[in-house]
Amino acid sequence: MTLTRDDFIALDKRDPLAPFAEEFDIPEGLIYFDGNSLGAMPKAAMARAKDVIEQEWGTDLIKSWNKAGWFTLVEKLGNKVAKLIGADEGEVIYADATGLNVYKLVSAALEQRPDRKIIVMEGSNFPTDNYMVQGLIRQLGRGHEIRFAEDGEIMDAIRDDVAVVCLTHVHYKTGHLHDMTAITRKAHNVGALTIWDLCHSAGALPVDLNGSNVDFALGCTYKYLNGGPGSQSFMFVAKRHQGIAVQPLTGWWGHDKPFGFERDYRPRKDIWQFSTGTQPIVSLALSEVGLDIFMRANMDEIRKKSLKLCDLFIELIDERLKGYDFKIVTPREHSRRGSQVSIASKNGFAIMQALIADNVIGDFRAPDIMRFGFTPLYVSYVNVWDAVEKLKIIMEEGRWDRPEFKQVGAVT
Ligand SMILES: Cc1ncc(COP(=O)(O)O)c(C=O)c1O
Repeated sequence: MTLTRDDFIALDKRDPLAPFAEEFDIPEGLIYFDGNSLGAMPKAAMARAKDVIEQEWGTDLIKSWNKAGWFTLVEKLGNKVAKLIGADEGEVIYADATGLNVYKLVSAALEQRPDRKIIVMEGSNFPTDNYMVQGLIRQLGRGHEIRFAEDGEIMDAIRDDVAVVCLTHVHYKTGHLHDMTAITRKAHNVGALTIWDLCHSAGALPVDLNGSNVDFALGCTYKYLNGGPGSQSFMFVAKRHQGIAVQPLTGWWGHDKPFGFERDYRPRKDIWQFSTGTQPIVSLALSEVGLDIFMRANMDEIRKKSLKLCDLFIELIDERLKGYDFKIVTPREHSRRGSQVSIASKNGFAIMQALIADNVIGDFRAPDIMRFGFTPLYVSYVNVWDAVEKLKIIMEEGRWDRPEFKQVGAVT
């Protein structure tokens, strides 16, 4: 059946999530499909920034560590994220960058499996996870090795020599979604531990860490959670590992008594052991604003709309851009994909630049992937129609083939 723009307008009118778009500051006329890389700014972030800078920092100064709850913000935000990822209170904490947390969690997990040397990872994963583990292996110098496996090879790679399986739930480039429950079960059956990177799943789809019996997890907050550029990562450590697994960056925030100022490190026995030191409070404070929007939204509704937005986008690409060099590399089955659609095209970089110049923002990942992220809280159905229409015109006119669209910047 051929769809029209009016069908998309009708879907927006019936959309229970539509009112949330009002809470985000998106420039008039812009279609933003890059919330999988940098989430949009919640309007309330401006007032929060003013308050944290003027009042809490400017006026209350050092008193704010207690008075404004700065010290415990990492735990407070962790408990909020916990609700989105199927974790319990006290199992999640904010700290540092995603890559650093990969280092901490893989170190802690390896120490729990001292006789095993293999870490299963996906070679095509976002590189920082692999790079961090390669650095850790070099530093440990105990003969650990990464066994790289791609989607479809992972189950076979999990054998009884594996210490840790460290995977990203939704692939950053293709958007494929792993079966967290089945992989975790297989890992446990052979005596291995699991670490899940939720960078492209927290806030994008319902996640049930405890339901899947996951050991450790982490994720960033500047994508689907709208925490702001460079906002801190979070870590999940299942209760059963707390007080047993110890991460090696043993700074004072993870000490049993940070204000006891003792000479020697004594690990705290709860999630706080996974923090290391003082956090950028302005950034943390702004992260909470995005998170609070999620506290009022329903993750199942978000997933429902995300799947529908992606389905419609795929359907329109198939129907209206037939004959062009576009290959949808994101799996079409709902159970196999996250909240993005990736299209491989030889001229993908230039086509994406032409789209951006026409106010449709997605991004590009080498060598040939155009990524379109769908964030149901502020993307509308009619955005999908309008974006595909603009793409069709760009292709028909061959507008992408201009020199200005072939200049590669530092960030793609
Ligand atoms: C799967 C995954 N891990 C990690 C990162 C980024 O790590 P960091 O926050 O340390 O820069 C990204 C960023 O896109 C990612 O997609």
